[in-house]
Amino acid sequence: MKNPRRSTNFRWNLRWVLLLVSGVMLFCGLSMAETLNKGAAEIRLPGGERGDVPFPHLQHQNTLKDCNICHSLFPQKIGGIADLIQKGELGKKQVMDEHCKKCHRGKKAAGEKTGPVTCSKCHVK
Ligand code: HEC
Ligand code: HEC
Ligand code: HEC
Repeated sequence: MKNPRRSTNFRWNLRWVLLLVSGVMLFCGLSMAETLNKGAAEIRLPGGERGDVPFPHLQHQNTLKDCNICHSLFPQKIGGIADLIQKGELGKKQVMDEHCKKCHRGKKAAGEKTGPVTCSKCHVK
């Protein structure tokens, strides 16, 4: 036979355990958000003979929210794109064509706020 008192106790214990677990998860989430290294607000990307490309990093983080839109392709490190190009794991202009320009074009076509799509608006001498 089931002991009704025991099962009530068990349910109470379970509640406390769940409360504790969610408290710990909340705490971890908050401290992670605080220690997340967002890197420099402005980054100057090497753009070859066309000239460097000033990149408003923080503005993109705020607008796009998801870091992985870019950082699934290259690491969160200054010079990370150049390293991958050097190793042959990224083509020259691949980030420019498949990320920067592709997204800007898509947003432009959708009538949303967007970034530059012409050479001299990105590359500065
Ligand atoms: C639109 C693209 C894009 C998005 C979105 C993005 N980043 Fe970056 N991030 C870059 C580029 C480009 C670099 C520089 C890579 C290089 O120099 O080769 C970079 C570099 C970094 C660096 C190294 C910079 C430094 O100052 O040490 C960190 C850290 C970083 N990103 C964190 C983040 C985090 C965290 C997020 C999300 C909140 C994020 N990034 C979102 C494009 C992006
Ligand atoms: C949205 C910004 C943007 C626009 C618009 C843009 N570029 Fe780029 N370009 C970049 C970035 C960022 C890089 C470096 C990353 C890479 O190589 O993918 C780059 C890299 C390059 C490189 C490679 C340099 C090298 O030796 O590795 C060349 C050449 C270049 N761009 C030419 C052009 C030309 C020509 C146009 C116009 C038709 C243009 N870019 C438009 C951002 C842009
Ligand atoms: C997934 C979409 C996306 C990607 C990828 C992306 N951008 Fe943008 N970019 C935007 C949007 C959206 C804006 C307009 C942001 C705003 O107005 O808040 C913007 C704005 C800009 C601006 C203009 C900022 C200003 O206010 O004048 C520059 C420069 C720029 N992007 C460069 C780049 C470069 C270089 C890359 C590639 C390394 C890149 N972007 C990748 C979406 C993107």
